[in-house]
Amino acid sequence: MRETCHIAREVLDEAARIIQPGVTTDEIDRVVHEATIAAGGYPSPLNYNFFPKSCCTSVNEVICHGIPDARKLEDGDIVNVDVSVYYKGVHADLNETYFVGNVDEESCQLVKCTYECLEKAISIVKPGVRFREIGEVISRHASMSGFSVARSYCGHGIGELFHCAPNIPHYARNKAVGVIKAGQTFTIEPMINAGVWRDRMWLDGWTVVTTDGKRSAQFEHTLLVTDTGVEVLTGRLQTSPNVFPWLNS
Ligand code: MF3
Ligand code: CO
Repeated sequence: MRETCHIAREVLDEAARIIQPGVTTDEIDRVVHEATIAAGGYPSPLNYNFFPKSCCTSVNEVICHGIPDARKLEDGDIVNVDVSVYYKGVHADLNETYFVGNVDEESCQLVKCTYECLEKAISIVKPGVRFREIGEVISRHASMSGFSVARSYCGHGIGELFHCAPNIPHYARNKAVGVIKAGQTFTIEPMINAGVWRDRMWLDGWTVVTTDGKRSAQFEHTLLVTDTGVEVLTGRLQTSPNVFPWLNS
């Protein structure tokens, strides 16, 4: 899992480096596909339940599972790139939301708040904590900024399977079952909406959008629970590009 997650991180970083106005999401997909194959891996999304591309690219009001296509990114867009890699028999899964050129203040706040939601959720992960607590932490931070939490898609167990138990909702007062134990590997991947939480799916059967057309941001890590806490297997590297202003001290 450690090796696979490290590869997935480097693949995502490759994608992050090319993002700018005029680049198409198909071009992002090509970078992800080629970097994954070059590392000896397979892009988990490709043909997963008939998903047609090697990563998900979710622009602006797309909450998740956007399909790369020929549309050029525009100045002011936000774009989430979700990378999953299969290597040595296990899957890794991570995503980040990037700024395209100059982005308006509310969108910057949305992306930063979403980043913080994931950080805060990870900070409570250790053996003995209930999975249902994760949504409490995320929801508290999102609502503090006036944002809502998407409810239809959750974090998940990951390993030999791309998606497995446990199911980890990101919203408050959820009914997630179970207690965190050392040795588990799972994702946390909050999707935070500028407006209402509600979603709709496009007729392509994949693209999930906000019902009010307002923007949505997401960050995801694959985590390993240790005896005392958590290891962020997909964490940023020293070589990761500096694309988040709040990380430059
Ligand atoms: N990577 C997504 C996740 O975070 C799943 C994408 S499924 C796909 O769980 F088929 F759309 F790629
Ligand atoms: Co995931």
